This record gives sequence, C-alpha cells and structure tokens, in this order.
Amino acid sequence: MAEAPASLSGQDVGSFAYLTIKDRIPLILTKAIDTLHRHKSEFFEKHGEEGIEAEKKAISLLSKLRNELQTDKPIIPLVENCVDTDIWNQYLEYQQSLLRESDRTPSWFYSPWLYVECYMYRRIHEAIIQSPPINDFDVFKESKDQNFFESQEPGITLCTHLQNFRSTIEDLDANQLKTEFFHLLQISLWGNKCDLSLSGGESSSQKTNLINSLEDLEPFILVNDMEHLWSLLSKCKETREKVPIVRVDIVLDNSGFELLTDLVLADFLLSTNLATEIHFYGKCIPWFVSDTTIRDFNWLIEQVKHYDHEWVSKCGVDWENYIKMGRWVYHDHMFWTLPHEYAAMSQVAPDLYAELQKACLILFKGDLNYRKLTGDRKWAFTVPFHQALSGFHPAPLCSLRTLKAEIQVGLQPGQGEQLAASDPNWLVTGKYGVIQFDGPL
Ligand code: F6P
Ligand code: MG
Repeated sequence: MAEAPASLSGQDVGSFAYLTIKDRIPLILTKAIDTLHRHKSEFFEKHGEEGIEAEKKAISLLSKLRNELQTDKPIIPLVENCVDTDIWNQYLEYQQSLLRESDRTPSWFYSPWLYVECYMYRRIHEAIIQSPPINDFDVFKESKDQNFFESQEPGITLCTHLQNFRSTIEDLDANQLKTEFFHLLQISLWGNKCDLSLSGGESSSQKTNLINSLEDLEPFILVNDMEHLWSLLSKCKETREKVPIVRVDIVLDNSGFELLTDLVLADFLLSTNLATEIHFYGKCIPWFVSDTTIRDFNWLIEQVKHYDHEWVSKCGVDWENYIKMGRWVYHDHMFWTLPHEYAAMSQVAPDLYAELQKACLILFKGDLNYRKLTGDRKWAFTVPFHQALSGFHPAPLCSLRTLKAEIQVGLQPGQGEQLAASDPNWLVTGKYGVIQFDGPL
C-alpha cells in the first residue's frame, strides 16, 4: 500500500493549521486565564487563601504555556503523574525520533498540528491538576453552559418535535420513519456547527430552528450516505431474532446544543426499535473547549429534565430512565484525549477497540473525530474514506462532521476544486458537512 501522506502542520505558513497555532490557540489560553481570574472570589469563598494561591499558580502555568507556544519552544514532557502521562511522553519521544535525522526537535509549529493541539489541551489540564485545591475546575464549563442556554429556543422546538413524533410512531410507515431518521441525522450534523474551539472560545450557539432549514442546507452536504445508514439499521432490525442486541455507538463531540441533537437522535433510534442500546463516549478531561465530559452530559440531562416546559422535561425524564435501565450507556476512555490517530487504537487501546467492535454502527461526531479518523493528513480529496481510515474498521462507521480543518476525503473527481473556486474557505468555516459512511453495504 502507498505510504500515507504527511501530517497537516503549523510549518505550512498561511495554512489553517498555522493560523490556528499562531492566533486561535493563544486566544483560547488567554480566555482560560481570564476565566480563572474571574473566579478568584469564588475560589476564595470555597478555599480561603489556599484558593487564591492555587488560582495564581494555575494562571502562571498557563501564561508559561502561552509563552512557550508563541515563541515556538520545544515540546516538553508532561510532569504530573497521571494514567496517561507515560503514553504522552512516549509519543513525544516518537515525534523526536521522526525529526532526529533533520537535527530538529518537535516544537509547536514544527510538529503535526493534531499532536500540538491535543497537547495544548492536555497541558491546560496539567496546569489545573497541579493547582490544588482548584484541581477539579473546568475552565471551559462556563462557556459550555452558556452555549446551551443561548440555544434554548431551537432546543425547545427540537424536543417538542421529538415528542410529537413519538406520539405518532405507531401510525407511521417505513418511509415516514426513514424521512424522520434523515431529518434527525441532519440536525445532529448541523448541530456540529456549534463548537467553541473554532470560534476561539467565543459563543457559537444555534439561534434558529434547524428543522425548517434542512432543505436549504442539504446542498452543503458534500458526501451524503444517509441511505446506507438506513439500509444497515433496517438489516440489523430484521436479524433481531438472531442477534437481539443492536447497538449504535455515538462518539460524542460538543456539549450544549450539539449534544442535545445527539440525544434526540439516540432517543429516536430506541423509540423506533432501530437500536436496542446506545453507547456514548465522552472525554475524561476538558477538551477542545466544548467537548462533552460526563459532567456536561449529566448536567444537560438534568437541565432538560427540570426545564419549565412539558415536552422538554419529558425528554429529560425519559433519558434518565434510559440510563437507569442500561439502554443508554456512557463510557469514558483516556484514548479519546490522547494525540493518536484512530488507526493506532487497536494497539494503544485494544480494550476500547474491542468495545467498539460490539456496535452495529458507530457514529463519530464532529471535526476533530474526522481528523483523527483520517490521521489529519494531506490526503487528496478523491482518496476513498476507507483508505484514509488506514485500517481502522472496528465496525461499520459514519462521520457526521462540519468541515473545520483542511482535510476532506471521498469526494468526486473535480468536486474539491470546484468548491475551492467558488468558496476559497470551504474547508474551514463549518458551512459544509459530510455524512460519510464506511462499511460493508
Ligand atoms: O480549527 C478548528 C478546530 O479547533 C479544529 O482544531 C478542530 O478540529 C475543531 O475546531 C473542533 O471541532 P469539533 O468540535 O467539530 O471537533
Ligand atoms: Mg469539539
């Protein structure tokens, strides 16, 4: 097989990777520092002088990190001993070995973009855990919650839509179910526009009602494999007698409105018997500003449950029951916050790979997951998705992703060039999306 192409990297001056490392990442660090500042009195109330000292320490560690980045210093090993520290430091050694011949050391701009961006979030985490007693503080929590509250209107509409649909399920034929499935898949796709990392941590909430815009947005779906998903799930349903458990696994991305769209889709899959169990995967530590942690997951369901609106709170009650009954299962795994591409999962995290193999379908939400699925490499636009996965095939899988990084595979010949001619920023603004499937048909 031909060798995989080079990684996207900040050394390509003017590229999106370069601009991210130069401009957006320092902005995110500055926001994190501001957030700590603003919580000073809260830390004092909770922990007294110790809280103030901890805040100072975390801020000085983050300022040091920002300085290392802005002056393109060598990447340094992690120091605080955690479950993943050795793996991170081994990865750095591996990066060092790749550069040995050129007599360089990995630095912020002179390393794969995927690696340094993940490393930055891991270093933020390190700064916080090195600062007890505030070592449990999530510097992004406030923005994540704000994002949810700002999307209340479309959130209510979506929950109401789900409940209306559920009350008519018995009377619907297969075609109507399929249409609804397609709607909710697209809603979950466009929900991915709402991440807070592309916007440098600024608010990026859903303001309008997505259900009414789906038709207008459809031309922006560059690869649309919804039909494949429908046939796959319909087949799984037919073989239910032989295989009673049909699992759909969702590798979550952002909390807030996007998470709500994912939970609505998950509810639909159970209510229509297209799946019998949904397994969710979130992040163990605060990640890429808005990614879902267990705290965000539980928080959102609690918010929905106590919402002062009959249909919204009904969703929350049902979702809590799904969890109690084990029909919705949430998993944590440190692999999701390592810098490795998913092709390495079977080696680095064989237990997680084995878990994913139990699914009938795995949905990967968002841009970062797409970058990790494809190794964040400079693939030609026409390279088949299957090839770009470089051997990562735990089960049939599908990426639901809005484009926010200069990588896209599986396009028709000429499609990428045409898009570039009409919209030079087509790869990075989140305006376009894919519902891209890989698996036996
Ligand atoms: O550059 C934009 C960015 O920060 C990418 O690094 C990352 O892939 C993306 O935002 C996060 O998006 P998502 O939440 O969809 O994974
Ligand atoms: Mg994200």
